[in-house]
Amino acid sequence: MRVTSLLTVFMAPLAIAVAAPQPNPVAAAAPASTTGLLSELGDLGSLLSQDNINSLNTIIKNGGKLLSDSNLNTLQSILTNADSLLTKEFVDNTTTLIGEATPLLGDVSKLLGSLLGSL
Ligand SMILES: *[C@@H]1O[C@H](CO)[C@@H](O)[C@H](O)[C@H]1NC(C)=O
Repeated sequence: MRVTSLLTVFMAPLAIAVAAPQPNPVAAAAPASTTGLLSELGDLGSLLSQDNINSLNTIIKNGGKLLSDSNLNTLQSILTNADSLLTKEFVDNTTTLIGEATPLLGDVSKLLGSLLGSL
């Protein structure tokens, strides 16, 4: 095969790529009516007040401190144990328990209400 034939074979895909650019398959273009992420979020956007952002910043900084090697090992151990606890039988039993306890909460609430009312 001659050099020019080799060049043709190897350069052809490049020529096609240059001639027919494909749209980015990862990010679709934003709709024309979009005015911005925050306005699209509506009420959620109002959660992003400076106070909330400062609080999140604090949480993230302190959360980072919690992620020491020893804490990560502890968390791993907790997750491993929790994973073995969460059998189908345990989940079924717990679901049943919650289902049976839920109607009682109304009574407990009334009882607490009358107890507090009598103080
Ligand atoms: C689920 O409930 C049954 C019946 O009360 C009980 O025998 C069993 O030990 C419970 N299993 C778990 C994993 O809680």
